[in-house]
Amino acid sequence: MFMKTWICPSLLGTDEKNTLPWVEKLDGKVDAFHVDVMDNQFVPNYTLDRFAPPFISQLRTVSEKHVHLMTEIPSKYYNAYFEAGATLLVFHHEAVKNPIIEINAVHNFGLKAGVALKPKTPTDVLEDYIHNVDCVLVMTVEPGFGGQAFMPDMLDKIRELREKHASLDIMVDGGINLETGKTCLEAGANMLVAGNGIFNSKNVMHTVEQFNALKE
Ligand code: DX5
Ligand code: ZN
Repeated sequence: MFMKTWICPSLLGTDEKNTLPWVEKLDGKVDAFHVDVMDNQFVPNYTLDRFAPPFISQLRTVSEKHVHLMTEIPSKYYNAYFEAGATLLVFHHEAVKNPIIEINAVHNFGLKAGVALKPKTPTDVLEDYIHNVDCVLVMTVEPGFGGQAFMPDMLDKIRELREKHASLDIMVDGGINLETGKTCLEAGANMLVAGNGIFNSKNVMHTVEQFNALKE
């Protein structure tokens, strides 16, 4: 089955003053911009100012805009990020009581809904609702910060999901560079999120070209 491969730079990996110039430069050359929204409760980091909905609104891009909600009550933000033009909203399984209610709420806005799993959360938890979700985000580091090392143990999780779900969009996030990204694609992931792996590389434009070349 042909699955589209997605390259999704994580804007958390940019210096704040360079975020918008990078978006302008990369627009159309990447599949989506990944934006991490953190409330300092679900994770010990805060980006609700930096990546507030008005920030998303000002990104008038052809590349999609994906919002990864690392917040305690994700549903608080669906409406605002919908209005800001997000195309995919990802909530954390661990943050919610009833994932099906969350998925329906996101779908009611006409948006794609994704669910993220922290490294210690097994894939079994998805059983009841995986067929309703548009994408599963496998965290390959503990959520909260960029620049952490990829956790190779997560490859089994990716394989498990791919074996059971041939056409599921599987996103990986955390410690992804050209090397770990390639390994994840081989394990069955098809959406790569990369912060430092792109923006901390010597030549960002060239790195993006190399990421895009992994699609071939
Ligand atoms: C981490 C965030 C990531 C982060 C990844 O909790 O969800 O999106 O930006 O950063 P890198 O790619 O540097 O690990
Ligand atoms: Zn993220």
